[in-house]
Amino acid sequence: MNPPGTVAGAERRKQTSEPLTVAQPFLIQQQWDAYTAEQHAVWAELVRRRMPQLREHAAEEYLNGFEQIGLKEDSIPKLSEVNRRLAPRTGWNATPVSGFLPPDAFFEMLGARQFPTTTYIRSRESMEYTPEPDIFHDVFGHVPMHAHPVFADFLQHYGRVCAGLMHDKDKLERMGRLFWFTVEFGVIRQKGKVKLYGSGLISSHGEGTHVIEGKPEIREFNLDQVMDQKFLVSEEQKVLYAVESFDEIYEAAQEAEKRLS
Ligand SMILES: [Fe+2]
Repeated sequence: MNPPGTVAGAERRKQTSEPLTVAQPFLIQQQWDAYTAEQHAVWAELVRRRMPQLREHAAEEYLNGFEQIGLKEDSIPKLSEVNRRLAPRTGWNATPVSGFLPPDAFFEMLGARQFPTTTYIRSRESMEYTPEPDIFHDVFGHVPMHAHPVFADFLQHYGRVCAGLMHDKDKLERMGRLFWFTVEFGVIRQKGKVKLYGSGLISSHGEGTHVIEGKPEIREFNLDQVMDQKFLVSEEQKVLYAVESFDEIYEAAQEAEKRLS
């Protein structure tokens, strides 16, 4: 693999300026001035609820990313401000979209280092869980990790591999499991402890607590096992896979490409 800051990493970052085509109809502007005081208050409450646990149990790369991209506790982020800090670091942007994307549009965006980001925020009635992604899950849960160079390279590579597998449902399903057990529900061992980095664990107090209380079985990360491991979106996770470093997931995406392409 190419460690952060190498020429190859920089080369990949340069290749991101081609315009989006498949994803184009889903791109929107974030109407930041239209958020109400109540919506900012929901953001603030969600962040304040998560941070005490995350300061102790989140991966240090997540916590560093949170600072680096300038997220605030008391107001919904302005994506243009986030990108002003994020893009110079890794070439990633949090790009506003209208909602769920079809797979080809989603993978096209990942391949271009643009993370599809919803701008809607959940209501007070669904603080713990929202079936549709919202800006809290997308920005608080996902985007801080995009400031980490190896994770940033991994995610783009993942998108490119999947974009090349659009014709094969079974292979895409296996790649979907790699996403689930890393980007959404990934954990990492740091200083002898299991730390959270997956967005589903970061953004959900219930899911995060479930892991910290030692409920799921934590297995060592293994690409074959991960790609075979079925999961249910609607239930708390019974099995998670721990990496020792983020290099492991970058290498897993490369290995997956070799096996599936
Ligand atoms: Fe997510």
